[in-house]
Amino acid sequence: MRIAVVAVGAALLAGCDSGTEERASIASTRAVQRAYLPAPPGTVPRGSAAQAAALAPPGPEVTPAFVARGEKRFRAFCSPCHGMSGRGDGTVVSRGFPPPPSYHEERIRELSPEHIVSVITHGKGRMFPYADRVLPEDRWAIAHYVKTLQAREVDPASSQEAPTP
Ligand code: HEC
Repeated sequence: MRIAVVAVGAALLAGCDSGTEERASIASTRAVQRAYLPAPPGTVPRGSAAQAAALAPPGPEVTPAFVARGEKRFRAFCSPCHGMSGRGDGTVVSRGFPPPPSYHEERIRELSPEHIVSVITHGKGRMFPYADRVLPEDRWAIAHYVKTLQAREVDPASSQEAPTP
């Protein structure tokens, strides 16, 4: 009699054990299913598909209004270091921040809008990323404004290499 009870007990315990294993896998699945938290208005969640799509080239259509919007954002976010005309002589630089290269240098003139968008998103060297302050669409607008600035003038130092119009 006693032996039978022990055997039944062992069978129940074994049953419990496999049950515990199953519960563990269910519990870990549940942990992944977090409640849906809506993003605050006006923000784009980092790494989301929407963000990736907004950053994919060629970006929004380039119109004069779009470039004008880029100019406003450039003046607000970039000119403190890069200067209003992109010569790397912004007010922050005059207070000791390492000067960025002039946008009118040969190497920087050749950067694509895509590359400029990527520099705004990820930063580069001593420049911090601006992903949390500049919306993806505005990064394209700024990039095209920078290209407009570059088309307007050539640094005297690199003018010899630049094609004469
Ligand atoms: C706090 C100062 C600062 C601000 C603000 C700033 N930059 Fe920069 N930027 C730098 C510095 C410094 C470098 C040089 C980085 C290096 O090569 O170490 C640089 C480099 C760059 C380059 C050249 C990248 C390359 O591939 O060599 C681009 C393009 C650029 N910045 C665009 C922007 C734009 C657009 C904005 C505005 C959204 C901006 N920067 C705001 C300091 C700044």
